[in-house]
Amino acid sequence: MKAIEVHGVHYRYDDGTEALAGIDFTVGEGEFVAILGSNGSGKTTLINLLVGLLTARSGEIRINGRPIGGLSAEELHQRVGLVFQNPNDQLFAATVEEDVAFGPRNLNLPEAEVQQRVTEALAAVAALPLRGRAIHHLSFGEQKRVALAGVIAMRPAILILDEPTAGLDPAGEAQMMQLLKGLNRGEGLTIVLATHSVDMLPLFANRITVLDGGRVLCEGPAEEIFCHQEMIVRAKLRLPYVSRLMYEMKRHDGVPIDRLPLTIGEARAQLLELIPKEMIIDSLEEETKP
Ligand SMILES: Nc1ncnc2c1ncn2[C@@H]1O[C@H](COP(=O)(O)OP(=O)(O)OP(=O)(O)O)[C@@H](O)[C@H]1O
Ligand SMILES: [Mg+2]
Repeated sequence: MKAIEVHGVHYRYDDGTEALAGIDFTVGEGEFVAILGSNGSGKTTLINLLVGLLTARSGEIRINGRPIGGLSAEELHQRVGLVFQNPNDQLFAATVEEDVAFGPRNLNLPEAEVQQRVTEALAAVAALPLRGRAIHHLSFGEQKRVALAGVIAMRPAILILDEPTAGLDPAGEAQMMQLLKGLNRGEGLTIVLATHSVDMLPLFANRITVLDGGRVLCEGPAEEIFCHQEMIVRAKLRLPYVSRLMYEMKRHDGVPIDRLPLTIGEARAQLLELIPKEMIIDSLEEETKP
């Protein structure tokens, strides 16, 4: 069964803006799918439809095979967790512990289980030491992790994140993506994230859906998506930097590259194939000379 199925969904805001112009989008259970798109392409609108914050006027959305309209707010909330782009829109309690405990308490769980869930959720996002801290004293990156913990504490099977790495420094970005990968590969959570940062995706996403002007421009694994440089640029996006470098070397310098690398590891392996072995060993020896 699919975790999420979206068929022929249109969405128009009250002022007449057509944000989604007929979207088909599916996510299998346990997948890690990225929605990639420029500003205004419709990512947040699509996400808000998936968590019931907006209601589609036409088309169909199913969560675990059930039409979204047939799920109560509570049922939907327990299946699908949303992490907002801005943690300020999500966090509201005075302390980290109270904030993460809020959802489980609302489920009327015994207090011991609430505390257990808070501990597990904070541990999952490497934020246990923040437990007693005031929310408004946290850094932006810490707030993002606590917001994620609050959603994890509800134990949703599907985790949806709107630009989880926006505003994080490079180390914070890598840490957030590693956390999400752990939840996906380790705990089996289905993950959908909206983003326009392309460099990390090949390392994490099983599949990418590219949105442009409220339509799906293309979808597939990273190696398929990023071999269409012109299409990616048309969608106001770019290739991962390492792919762009190799693309330019092929185009301008005739460097023989069959398959565009998507990660530094892949590019390194391809370059090592092209560079004569003696050169590499020579330079290493140079370096190790006293
Ligand atoms: N409340 C609203 N009322 C009217 N139009 C809106 C509203 N929210 C979004 N839009 C419009 O809908 C379109 C899609 O917006 P959306 O926020 O879904 O894009 P996005 O891909 O999430 O962009 P970003 O990368 O900037 O977050 C845009 O043209 C936007 O101006
Ligand atoms: Mg958005």
